[in-house]
Amino acid sequence: MQEIKITTTLTCYDNIEELPQNIQELMQHAVEARKKAYAPYSKFKVGAALFLENGVVVTGSNQENAAYPSGLCAERVAIFHAGAQYPNVKIQQIAITATSDNHINKTPIPPCGACRQSIAEYEMRQEKAIEIYFMGAEGKIMKSDSLKDLLPLIFDKSYL
Ligand code: THU
Repeated sequence: MQEIKITTTLTCYDNIEELPQNIQELMQHAVEARKKAYAPYSKFKVGAALFLENGVVVTGSNQENAAYPSGLCAERVAIFHAGAQYPNVKIQQIAITATSDNHINKTPIPPCGACRQSIAEYEMRQEKAIEIYFMGAEGKIMKSDSLKDLLPLIFDKSYL
């Protein structure tokens, strides 16, 4: 028997001004996307902005539905849009921001498990790490250098 420890390293920025200029701009795109969320049920609005290697920024926001599971998270709206419109263009970075209408979230809000799995698929498909930056409404921002740092023991096509 053997114990296995899995560790991960993230970078934490104190505020948006501390981010590199290009990422500040990407996060601003995510903030604008967040304002377009359709979240009448949860009142929780999420925005995601992807920077593609061709310089295009693709954004998404969560889109809810009266039949709750029919809705989709912001991150998947964005990456599926990128996959549909730019299938052979690599994603370099993703910026995510989320907040409730009921209170201002000031801690970094990471992507949910289903979104991590979806981002993992794209990272493996493009064979290049995707940097992920996530924040609440404002305040600290966390960064992972790769989706792999957010999802240990990824299920992927090698198991099929
Ligand atoms: N949501 C996202 O858009 N991304 C996540 O990673 C977590 C959750 C959305 C789904 C739903 O519309 C609302 O936030 C509350 O869960």
